[in-house]
Amino acid sequence: MADVKRIQKDLETLRDFSEPGGEGTTRFSYTPAFRAAADYLKAEMAACGLAVREDGVGNLWGLYPGGEPEAAHIISGSHLDTVRCSGYFDGQAGVVCALEAARMLRERQVRLRGGYEVLATAMEEGARFKNLGGSKFVMGVRTEEDLDTLKDDDGIPLRRALREYGLTGTLEGVCRREDPVRAFLEVHMEQGSRLERAGKELGVVQTIFGCRWFLITVEGTTAHPSVPLEERRDAAFAAARLVTRLEEAAAPYRRRAALTVGRMSLYPGQINAIASRAEFSLDFRSGEESCFEELDAVLEREMRRVEEEYRVTVRRELYTYTPPTRCSPEVSAALAGCAERLGCSFLPMDSGAGHDAMVFARHWPVGMLFLPSRGGLTHCPGEWTDYANVARGADVLYEAILQLDAQRP
Ligand code: GLV
Ligand code: MN
Ligand code: MN
Repeated sequence: MADVKRIQKDLETLRDFSEPGGEGTTRFSYTPAFRAAADYLKAEMAACGLAVREDGVGNLWGLYPGGEPEAAHIISGSHLDTVRCSGYFDGQAGVVCALEAARMLRERQVRLRGGYEVLATAMEEGARFKNLGGSKFVMGVRTEEDLDTLKDDDGIPLRRALREYGLTGTLEGVCRREDPVRAFLEVHMEQGSRLERAGKELGVVQTIFGCRWFLITVEGTTAHPSVPLEERRDAAFAAARLVTRLEEAAAPYRRRAALTVGRMSLYPGQINAIASRAEFSLDFRSGEESCFEELDAVLEREMRRVEEEYRVTVRRELYTYTPPTRCSPEVSAALAGCAERLGCSFLPMDSGAGHDAMVFARHWPVGMLFLPSRGGLTHCPGEWTDYANVARGADVLYEAILQLDAQRP
């Protein structure tokens, strides 16, 4: 069985590799905290005999070799970066499970046919550089020119961030799209409370919701607050109205899609000046591609309506889009079968959150295992799943690696 104490030590060590200040764990990609976490993982991977490689965008790979050089590899892992003031399970639990499975293989001296690789990705959260970045470079969705065009909030291009992190700033050896991969397996805590409410120990993911991010800009004119409403071009009121209209328009989609405004700012940002510009983010989630088209039409209609009513201009920039993704039925069935064999209760379910698995699914069969989340909290310091749940995830993952390695199409 997986070693709970070892898992606890990994997670609590990673927890403390955090940028100073603020609650919980904050570990944006390529920061000193990210470097410290990556170095810890490299050392742990090497300690269990894995061949460690850091690719050009800072993804970490640890290989447990198989006996047949031509046989497709099984890869498991998740992301090492976090959002601001996060907990220490989102992403990290999946990395630790993948590592624990490698330790179990080593301890039992298992001879796999194909190699098994542990993966910890960078840039998944989109907290610094666009989301799902590590996996998108591996799949060739992002390419050389993105190293110069992708910038963080301080205007630092990705290539420079990579060099300052100690990498070459090139993509040599990063894209693995053409590599034969038997399965990519990602363990992750649920970002919701379905498992907890259903009293199930694990979730086997069927569909991962798609995720579409827009940056919205409302342009008006600044002036003194004494200017009457009907003479203003007030970007703040226009943006606020647009947001509430979108909330209303999204209400009928409640079961099929979600809409979030997570960031909003006003310029010039003074108490005694009408805002000339408002900027905010929009995050649409759905498991159905048609919902994105419908919500796009709603957004367009409401933007034009607010433009007319407030005499402002409204622009939208599509920031990222990753479509809804089906996990591989064969891999999901293997995960469910292993959970059953180990006596774990499980629920087939969808993922409302985005994951690297959805990017890898473009070329590789993927499967995801969810761990129950206490109170459904994630992306906050209160994020929690018991260490024993993480160990259970590692046990099922280990079994699935053995099964998928043995049963090859
Ligand atoms: C990642 O956690 C996301 O779904 O945004
Ligand atoms: Mn997350
Ligand atoms: Mn995550």
